[in-house]
Amino acid sequence: MLEGRHLLLGVCGGIAAYKSAELARALVRQGAQVRTVLTTGAEAFVTPLLFEALTRERAFRQKDFLNPQGGLILHTDLAAWAEAVVVAPATASFLSKLSRGEPSDLLTAVLMAFSGPVLLAPAMNLHMWRHPATQENVSRLRRFGYQVVEPEEGSLACGLTGPGRLPPLEDLLLEIKALLSEKPLSGKRVLLTGGPTREPLDAVRFFSNPSSGRMAVALAQAARILGAEVYLVHGSLAVAPPRGVRSYPVQRAEEMLAEALRLFPECAIAVLAAAVCDLAPEEPLPGKTPKEALPRVLRLRPTPDIARELAARKRPGQLLVGFALEEREKLEDRARRKLTEKGFDFLAANPLESLEAEDTEVWLFSRERETPRILKGSKERVALELLGEVARAL
Ligand SMILES: Cc1cc2nc3c(=O)[nH]c(=O)nc-3n(C[C@H](O)[C@H](O)[C@H](O)COP(=O)(O)O)c2cc1C
Repeated sequence: MLEGRHLLLGVCGGIAAYKSAELARALVRQGAQVRTVLTTGAEAFVTPLLFEALTRERAFRQKDFLNPQGGLILHTDLAAWAEAVVVAPATASFLSKLSRGEPSDLLTAVLMAFSGPVLLAPAMNLHMWRHPATQENVSRLRRFGYQVVEPEEGSLACGLTGPGRLPPLEDLLLEIKALLSEKPLSGKRVLLTGGPTREPLDAVRFFSNPSSGRMAVALAQAARILGAEVYLVHGSLAVAPPRGVRSYPVQRAEEMLAEALRLFPECAIAVLAAAVCDLAPEEPLPGKTPKEALPRVLRLRPTPDIARELAARKRPGQLLVGFALEEREKLEDRARRKLTEKGFDFLAANPLESLEAEDTEVWLFSRERETPRILKGSKERVALELLGEVARAL
């Protein structure tokens, strides 16, 4: 979704300036055209050459502002070129200048000449961040319509621990995509289930499956990009849930059902991408059972059918989306049957071979359409297309 988009990256003079180079590289890798503006402060930490080499585009510095080459008016030309501006890191001094509307440097002047979406990612010492002047400047900037990402808590370069770190690259990329996207799910809540459930045999052993939860995390990111508030009820995940997503970790199918039932009434859409174990040991054994005492034959019981329970409580206007892993030859028949039997509005069926693959393939069946839509590509891309389609049905 960043392919061909014009992004202006502003870099200020903070320690996290070294992370902006990685951000520039990641944006270029995803197809964006990135031009950079370095403040005077930034030049003490990083060089225009670094950004020019990474982006293959011009990187501008303060001395270019009032001495441009080739008949440019830099602040207005860059503002006209950019579709969005990202300032990472944004220093306390820069936030102060921008909140006062004082365009004495190139970056502030570009932003004042720019009317599109802007993301500011402050990073600084925790006391500088908590200082009332900084907090007031941030509130003022938010009122002006700037998107400000809260800095992360953690150990800071100054040796202290607290809020002030630049958020991880993945989170910044997500915020940037959200900045550039239409928001058909704005004001809507989306419930997602993801990852495997664990059904205990005793205190240390369990039944489970190899689901990584990556699809659910991709769906959570996509829902955020499309403007939704996201509730993710999940088993163990191979990747962390994205920033800004409300995460509800659970273990057993019953726990997943309880959380899903609690959250579903508030949600416009529920997407059930969890790999719920179909069976569980009937009576979990107490404590850690010695190896010799483990039963050789187990009685199993079916776990609750989360889809069926939610479908039974679905109100008009709510949409329920199921996921199913199917053998390719039987995929179409089984998917259509599940769509109606379980009361789904959409069913996303994955062919079995896509289980281990990096990319995914989803056949999206809906009640409204005769033929399924086949979505292929990265989980991130497929998740966006899938939720875009579901949003259109709301
Ligand atoms: C080693 C060092 C690290 C700094 N780190 C930060 C920082 O992380 N965040 C910040 O807001 N200011 C930081 N500063 C202060 C800024 O560099 C200073 O306010 C400068 O004027 C900012 O310029 P700019 O906002 O135009 O880039 C640091 C200064 C030094 C010397």
